[in-house]
Amino acid sequence: MKILGLSFSPREKGNTEILMDAVLAGAGELGAETELYRTADKRIEPCDACGCCFTTGECPIGDDMQGLYLKMLEADGILFGTPVYFYNMTAQGKTVIDRTIALNHGGRSLSSKVGAVVAVAGSLGLVDALKDLYFYMVTRQMLPASYIAAYGSNRGDVKDFDKCMQASAELGRKMVKIIKKKFVYPDGKANYMAFGTHTF
Ligand SMILES: Cc1cc2nc3c(=O)[nH]c(=O)nc-3n(C[C@H](O)[C@H](O)[C@H](O)COP(=O)(O)O)c2cc1C
Repeated sequence: MKILGLSFSPREKGNTEILMDAVLAGAGELGAETELYRTADKRIEPCDACGCCFTTGECPIGDDMQGLYLKMLEADGILFGTPVYFYNMTAQGKTVIDRTIALNHGGRSLSSKVGAVVAVAGSLGLVDALKDLYFYMVTRQMLPASYIAAYGSNRGDVKDFDKCMQASAELGRKMVKIIKKKFVYPDGKANYMAFGTHTF
C-alpha cells in the first residue's frame, strides 16, 4: 500500500510538512509505504490548455509532472498539504491540480483513491483551501478521509500543539484503515466527469 504526500509548500520542513510527516508516520505505523513529494522543488509548468490530453490521453509538457502523474496513479492514498497563501492553496498546489486534468483521459483516473488534506495558515483562509481541495477530491471520485487545519506562522509553530500532532498521526492511520476496506466506486476506474447542465 502506497501513500503519497504532495507538499505544496515552498518552505521545506515548514509547518505544512511537519504535519504531513506526522500523517505519513501514522500511516507508516500501520504498514503503508510513504513518500513526501515537494512540488516546489520540481519543474511543473502550468496547464496551457492545449487540449492534447482530451484526444491523446497524454499531457505533452515534458516536465516533472510526467513523473508525478505516475506517482499519483500508483498511490492508494494521496495526502495534499498546503500552507494558505492569499486565502487559499499555494500557486504550486493549483498548478498541480490543473495539470491533473490529463488524468481525466486515456483511461486514467484518481477514482477510489483515499485522500486527505493538511492546511496551515497564519490567520485567515483555511476554509477556502480546505474546501477547494475537498471539492477537488470529490469531483475526482476520491474518498476523503479527513483533514487537519492548523494555525502557525513561523517554521515549526505547529509543533507546540500536541493535540494537532497526534491528530495528524491519527489521520495517517485512518487513511490506511480506509484503504484496507478496498472501496471501489460503482463505475470503477472509468473516466469520471461530474454532470452540470453547462457540460452538455
Ligand atoms: C506569500 C504568502 C502569503 C500568505 N498568505 C496568508 C494568508 O492569506 N492567510 C494566512 O493566514 N496566512 C498567510 N501566510 C502565512 C502562511 O500561511 C504561514 O506562515 C504558514 O505557517 C506557512 O506554512 P509553511 O511553514 O508550511 O510554509 C502567507 C505566507 C506567505 C509567504
